[in-house]
Amino acid sequence: MMKKIELEVNGRKKTVEVDPEEPLLYVLREDFGLNGPKFGCGLHQCGACMVMIEGTATYTCRIPSGQFEGQKIETIENLSINDNKLHPLQQSFFEEQAAQCGYCVNGMLIAALDLLRKNKNPTESEIREALHKIICRCGTHSRFIKAVKKAAANSSNL
Ligand code: FES
Ligand code: FES
Repeated sequence: MMKKIELEVNGRKKTVEVDPEEPLLYVLREDFGLNGPKFGCGLHQCGACMVMIEGTATYTCRIPSGQFEGQKIETIENLSINDNKLHPLQQSFFEEQAAQCGYCVNGMLIAALDLLRKNKNPTESEIREALHKIICRCGTHSRFIKAVKKAAANSSNL
């Protein structure tokens, strides 16, 4: 049944009329026009759909959107809004040519953002652990790991 719910996405509150059982991913893409989060497996296994919820990387492909009322939702569209520059993670992903097809990039960015906001100087094994939950079908994990290391080294404010 359709219902009005208010979600706070990228710092803005908006009321949308949706089925609150519909997973957040669909609401973000269809009602907020945010195409950064992707549908991959739909099973909480690949990470393509991740967004930050209250500061933690979270899958969105199965959890009902109604459960996110009152929580702060942040998508990758929020990363480069300020002064029109790429976020340091986006910049280093670009410089290291980390992506091949790019389908996993949303999840890689969100997982890396979660890590670096909580741990400014992660070890390589901590980076591997953080990115491990994202499946990259192209197998470019080593380039993503290098890019996250570079972003951590080059920026103190993420
Ligand atoms: S689409 Fe959500 S984890 Fe794969
Ligand atoms: S770059 Fe293709 S899935 Fe990761």
